[in-house]
Amino acid sequence: MSVLVTGGAGFIGSHTVVQLFEHGEEIVILDNFSNSSPDVLDKIRQISGRDFRFYEGDMRDRELLERIFTENEIEAVIHFAGLKAVGESVEKPLEYYDNNINGTLCVLEAMKAHGCKRMIFSSSATVYGNDNKVPFTEDMKTSATNPYGWTKVFIEHILEGVCTSDREFSAVLLRYFNPIGAHKSGLIGEKPNGIPNNLMPYIVKVANGEYDHLNVFGDDYDTVDGTGVRDYIHVVDLADGHTAALEYARKNKGVQTVNLGTGRGTSVLELVKAFEKASGKKVPYVIAPRRPGDIAECYADVSKAKEVLGWQAKYDIDDMCADNARWALKL
Ligand code: WQD
Repeated sequence: MSVLVTGGAGFIGSHTVVQLFEHGEEIVILDNFSNSSPDVLDKIRQISGRDFRFYEGDMRDRELLERIFTENEIEAVIHFAGLKAVGESVEKPLEYYDNNINGTLCVLEAMKAHGCKRMIFSSSATVYGNDNKVPFTEDMKTSATNPYGWTKVFIEHILEGVCTSDREFSAVLLRYFNPIGAHKSGLIGEKPNGIPNNLMPYIVKVANGEYDHLNVFGDDYDTVDGTGVRDYIHVVDLADGHTAALEYARKNKGVQTVNLGTGRGTSVLELVKAFEKASGKKVPYVIAPRRPGDIAECYADVSKAKEVLGWQAKYDIDDMCADNARWALKL
């Protein structure tokens, strides 16, 4: 029996495959390399000493999905594949709705045709929107302020509907906070195409001299130092959350929603300082206007993850920055 990992060549997907191998799983990967590169596949083999079946293609290719489920006995799907840039989703809403939602429907239809009834879904803290108060708990109302966020909200509802219509189905919706860091080997990590939207990959490019400074989007928020506070979580902790969710899905039916964060908030300037300490590099910055759509604080209540999955994050900000520096700056 195998686990199909869609988007398995991506930042979180590749780290999860490595951890799944640690747990003795058989893996099949589907990826179209829209936000990843083929060299990651050999890095996964190098780190884990294990091999896997790989299919290059788009999750909306029904014939390809049919081939994957016919050629392999898939008992569960860990579903990472999806477009994930907030700003881009505002410019290209139809591309985001088609890729993320229609793509997920294609995967679910192939699963149904082959009796596969377990999905671990890559959701996001973005579904907490702007109206909830931190720390965020899984029972809070969901909403979004951009098409990317709406795709996550809609797919969560789709999976709730699948579990209502098929009582044998098990879906675990994992709401990620802000994943950073990299595997200790320094062989895999985040490598976004183009100008990074997210804070850590941007900090890295300033540290390695590609950009001359970081723009800090606002220092007048009601936070510890006025800059945005987020719940940064080590990508390896996040990956381990998926192996725990897979175990849970094997023993339980129905839909389960779980935050994957540390429960601790870190400001932009605190992260800059931690990265400078870990890397020995300076990260010059200027205070810029707030970024539209940003909220002041976003961090998780992580009690449910501990209670339901028996999982909690192990790494702290210094670990995340040290591992990020080793990967990105080859320190
Ligand atoms: C973090 C903080 C910015 C860049 C987004 C998505 C979320 C998830 C993670 C996919 C904020 C500040 C950033 C910069 C800055 N993605 N910042 N200068 O916005 O919390 O979450 O990425 O699932 O869904 O919404 O992450 O890294 O963009 O921003 O000052 O150049 O850093 O204002 O306070 P965010 P981020």
